[in-house]
Amino acid sequence: MNILMVCLGNICRSPLAEGIMKTKVPDGFLIDSAGTISMHEGKHPDKRAVETAAKHGIDISKQRSRPITAGDFEKFDKIYCMDIDVMADVVSKARTEKQRQKVSLFLEVLGDHENAEVPDPYWGGADEFENVFQLLEGGCNKIAGQILS
Ligand code: 4NP
Repeated sequence: MNILMVCLGNICRSPLAEGIMKTKVPDGFLIDSAGTISMHEGKHPDKRAVETAAKHGIDISKQRSRPITAGDFEKFDKIYCMDIDVMADVVSKARTEKQRQKVSLFLEVLGDHENAEVPDPYWGGADEFENVFQLLEGGCNKIAGQILS
């Protein structure tokens, strides 16, 4: 099972989602992240995201931002989007119905949070990043439960 986490810049939310998800699954699962914009391409995650992950014992400092590619729709089985705008953008890049069906809103895995979004913490502070971490942790636990059962 190959999983791609997607946000806007691939420097805050999806790097955290990638880092957390990797702690939930054994070797052999491909977990990666990408953004819908290429503005931060090649950059490491935002310092605040790195610090929040480190507080929870997860090292995301070596990740690098990259934009989503056409190949990702073939390579990955599941493409989880952090918010509705990101999802709309990702869906617009899918070229077949099969590819489109791989795409979903990350927090929908929690069921009772229909249309729930992982808020963009970019303009916030440490509290916003911690809140994002907790949302991602809950969602990743649920995804791990689904794919490992
Ligand atoms: P992310 O956060 O999508 O969670 O990586 C953002 C990163 C960069 C920008 C906005 C959100 N930006 O406007 O550059």
